[in-house]
Amino acid sequence: MAKKKIALVVGTRPNFVKAAPLMRRLEQHRDRFNTALIHTGQHYDHKLSQLLFDELGLPAPDVHLGVGSGSHAEQTAEIMTGLEKTLMESKPDLAVVFGDVNSTLATAVVTSKLWIPLAHVEAGLRNFDATMPEEINRVVTDRLSDYLFVSEQSGLDNLAAEGRPKDRTFLVGNIMIDALVAHLESAGTSNVLDSLGVTPREYAVMTVHRPSNVDDAEVLRGIIGAVREIGRKLPVVFPCHPRTQRQLVESKLMAHDRQDGVRVVEPLGYLDFLKLQSEAKLVITDSGGIQEETTFLRIPCLTIRETTERPVTVEVGTNVVVGVDADKITETAFDVINGNHKEGKIPDLWDGRTSERIVDFLLTSLT
Ligand code: UD1
Repeated sequence: MAKKKIALVVGTRPNFVKAAPLMRRLEQHRDRFNTALIHTGQHYDHKLSQLLFDELGLPAPDVHLGVGSGSHAEQTAEIMTGLEKTLMESKPDLAVVFGDVNSTLATAVVTSKLWIPLAHVEAGLRNFDATMPEEINRVVTDRLSDYLFVSEQSGLDNLAAEGRPKDRTFLVGNIMIDALVAHLESAGTSNVLDSLGVTPREYAVMTVHRPSNVDDAEVLRGIIGAVREIGRKLPVVFPCHPRTQRQLVESKLMAHDRQDGVRVVEPLGYLDFLKLQSEAKLVITDSGGIQEETTFLRIPCLTIRETTERPVTVEVGTNVVVGVDADKITETAFDVINGNHKEGKIPDLWDGRTSERIVDFLLTSLT
């Protein structure tokens, strides 16, 4: 039987985390699949890209498009141009994309026009806020995908409501948790706590990078104000995305990298960040993936956004959507510090076996 060619397309830090378990699982079936990894280059800093590749055991990309930063249109168009050429040459039997980033959207548009079947891992998530670029990317990608691999029940419901065929949508669980389960033990040996001088359960972790929180200096000022308030009670470690770092400097919001118990550090690698989350008293974030990881780790999480596209983390897990009001953020954080928080459970199928379920499906339906 001829081997099927599968192209995995990744571009950003969370994509790498999601692709790694699938890549590993596909490689166990080398007799059936020829797998190629395409990196668009959307994330290019060592700490956002190569470090993650190394830690997650991802092979060097077969193709690197090297697109880098730009406006949404520039970045998306450049990915599309590079990818079209690559895919016309390699003609895969299936392309796989992850999550909701510009690389995901660009790949969906290109593959559809080339009639290359597309699988979307993490399909169906919605927060119904079309002002967020990620929501646009999710809706368009799902509309163009042939196979929709879903991480939680809300994803199935959303896809059904949008009229996507039931026989194309599959609840397979959360692939990010596959990576977490695979690396939790080795993350345990990280000395990040010592090097940051923090003690287990006696610090908070904070990340913020969404344009809506970061690009508007007033919104960011409110968030930073709240975090400083929290930092006076509990030290806060703040690994800072380049977008956020730039805004902090431009709007002079943090004069030093240590202020009022808040410590700003460069983006951490996957293992250090996993260790840091897993020992934290509290995590404050606007990331999607971190809402899921804290739910699995059962660490209280405050999401500084008005909505979440991952409702199971609130319904079942430890997540609370607090919005961006500074008083609300501090109040809720103080509640957690005082021990008032929900315990949370792990959602169904977040068991470290999602990539196995996806590959089992591909083995029967593709080959
Ligand atoms: C992207 C995703 C977001 C995801 C995040 C994960 C989109 C629309 N957004 O946001 O959903 O949660 O990745 O981190 O795809 N930059 C660097 N070095 C890099 C990459 C970016 O300095 O390696 C800076 C650049 O100045 C760039 C800015 O960060 O202009 C934004 O990068 P971009 O890739 O456009 O989006 P993210 O904010 O990283």
